[in-house]
Amino acid sequence: MKVAVYSAHDFELPYLEKAISKDHSVTYTKHELSDVTIYFSQGCDAVALFTSDKADEGVLEKLNAIGIKNIVLRSVGFDHVDLIKAKELGMRIANVPAYSPYSVAEHAVTLLTAINRKLIQSRALINKNDFRLDGLTGFDLHEKTVGIIGLGKIGEIFAKIMNGFGCKLLCYDPHLKQSDNYSFKIENVSLKKLCAESDIISIHCPLNKYTKHLLNASVFSLMKKGIYIINTARGAIIKTEDLFTFLDNDLIGGLGLDVYEFEKGLFFHDHSKDGVKDAILQKLRAYPNVLITGHQAFLTETALKNIADTTAYNLSCFEKEIPCKNIIL
Ligand code: NAI
Repeated sequence: MKVAVYSAHDFELPYLEKAISKDHSVTYTKHELSDVTIYFSQGCDAVALFTSDKADEGVLEKLNAIGIKNIVLRSVGFDHVDLIKAKELGMRIANVPAYSPYSVAEHAVTLLTAINRKLIQSRALINKNDFRLDGLTGFDLHEKTVGIIGLGKIGEIFAKIMNGFGCKLLCYDPHLKQSDNYSFKIENVSLKKLCAESDIISIHCPLNKYTKHLLNASVFSLMKKGIYIINTARGAIIKTEDLFTFLDNDLIGGLGLDVYEFEKGLFFHDHSKDGVKDAILQKLRAYPNVLITGHQAFLTETALKNIADTTAYNLSCFEKEIPCKNIIL
């Protein structure tokens, strides 16, 4: 197949080249897919997209007009693709349903422990030759109650890790079945109960019309004072602007974000020369108890290899017209 790979980052190129380039004719561009970069896939049979490539109605229509019917996503999430439009246009789409749920779950734990044990402040002090411990007090995770929103592949691994810390586990997942069995004790409760009882909340559900702004001011007000919130799922699950009152009044004790509601065009790019004009992000990152990473939870060697291998598999299925186990459309 002739494949155009959009948003090709240096960190993934060696993995993609090894997995895809041997069987397909591949061209890579660092540019994101958009109205103005469609030309790059002219003459191709498929496009390979990253989470930052927005395949909305207009873009899909243009891809269709140049004969592209195959889309492979180098991601778990597919909230960046207009699936209704793609279906109407008869497109085929496959994703990478599980490249390494460990990578994301482990990053969620990393954010939590880094904020709790004040690692960023600690490093800054040590580098200034200030070896005092004032202001660095954290809390034991042991016996804390952890609320997990979305107990899927990533949420389950996060739960397993927190179980190892000796935490009490709650989850909110409306789609769990009674028959689901876990190697740890966990209670599926209402969002209200999860908020009222948790010391730490970690988000692991997909972004869709039901979960957009699921965590907003009225939900934050149900939470315990000093709650720690970790979001490695999608930025818009949190209504970002509603965070400030709760951060200002110490009602939120710690906030770890790997994803940000307005990350499009910002994350995955170097803005060190042009700066960041986003006032919300500027305000958010100034809090000492807020730790933001730029959508890097997935970024492990294992995950990158699995993404590349699965993308190659998906393309080959499309080319050979054989059933693809990762088809979402
Ligand atoms: P999954 O599909 O295995 O699990 C999602 C879980 O959320 C399911 O158990 C589902 O029942 C539950 N859920 C659905 N709607 C819900 C709702 N309204 N309220 C509560 N729970 C709900 O997905 P997986 O692999 O665990 O990934 C979760 C999310 O993590 C992805 O959708 C993606 O957005 C995000 N992600 C982030 C990455 C990063 O680098 N930061 C990388 C990979 C995924």
